[in-house]
Amino acid sequence: MPYYHTLGEIPRKRHTVFRQPSGELFAEHLMGAQGFSGASSLLYHRERPTQVLGSRTLRKVELATESDRTLRMRHFHLAELGSGESATLGRTPVLLNGDVVISLVTPTATDDFFYRNGQADEVVYISDGEGVLESEFGELDYREGDYVVIPRGIAHRFRLGEGRARMLVIETPSTIRFPARYLSCEGQLMEHAPFCERDIRPPNRLVTHEESGEFRVVVKQNDLLSEVVLNHHPLSVVGWDGCYYPWAMSIHDFEPITGSLHQPPPVHQTFQADQFVICSFTPRLYDFHPEAVPAPYNHSNVMSDEVIYYANDEFMSRTGIAYGSLTLHPAGIPHGPHPGRAEASIGQQRTEELAVMVDTFRPLTVAEAALSVEDSTYPGSWIEK
Ligand SMILES: [Fe+2]
Repeated sequence: MPYYHTLGEIPRKRHTVFRQPSGELFAEHLMGAQGFSGASSLLYHRERPTQVLGSRTLRKVELATESDRTLRMRHFHLAELGSGESATLGRTPVLLNGDVVISLVTPTATDDFFYRNGQADEVVYISDGEGVLESEFGELDYREGDYVVIPRGIAHRFRLGEGRARMLVIETPSTIRFPARYLSCEGQLMEHAPFCERDIRPPNRLVTHEESGEFRVVVKQNDLLSEVVLNHHPLSVVGWDGCYYPWAMSIHDFEPITGSLHQPPPVHQTFQADQFVICSFTPRLYDFHPEAVPAPYNHSNVMSDEVIYYANDEFMSRTGIAYGSLTLHPAGIPHGPHPGRAEASIGQQRTEELAVMVDTFRPLTVAEAALSVEDSTYPGSWIEK
């Protein structure tokens, strides 16, 4: 999906002799998706990535879900949700189906291992905090508002920076792509897309580790966490090139599309996966028709469960939500603005809302872990008091 990029040293022709100062060959490694048909990159390691000392099972990934599936509007105060200290293993699941798992993590310590998700692509929305994503492809700085996209199979670690960290993690067994309608037939983002290639930040510093010893990589595959021990540092790459790598894009670089009348949710679309989309709601001018009602009309999101994560405490059509809130408006019940919000929006000039929306085409289930922070008054909050 992203464009061709290269870092470090690579030979002029692929699959040709490329030697280390010692005379030994660098270990060439093709990494990609969808067999040999998707995006890929060629990496050159000092150490062969196949040198495994041993492996063991850590645990099964089990996502317990609620037993009461009564159809209703849901609201969770995720700001109050606890999580483990690890950005990769400490995630608390919130919503899930076979196409996507949405979880939250507030990591407090940098992992002392590397992590590789072998079964899913990840989009990690940085709600709070900053740091560096270390991976085989180099270092990538991240900060509040970034979508950090990590295609499957990449060994990486979040090196936490200063301040509190909070991440919303969207994980999928399909692939994360840009909407096809944003792309030219040659694959370039077109002028009408709300972001462009300049907004995509690939890793920009390659750090080649030469240490040998025992290095742990935790691999998620087949819903099992396995610890694989290598005899060398997993980041021993001297150069790479291709279209497969982790990258970041800021929600603050998403240029909103506005109109004289209310624009529908697809104008906010940012990513596409097989059975869901991810959209960004960013500060923007309101509709400029003199009679416009900027708040959305009631709508039945037929064939879509709508999830909104509120990345600040403003959202034009909602009352009672706060920073860190997450709502689920399931298919089957129409939803719309809270009482008074449509009227209050008339004549307003702009909104400062910041939110990440996930619309899934198949129903979601609530994870048991999220029930402790549920707002049970939300389903009745459209009744005028
Ligand atoms: Fe909606």
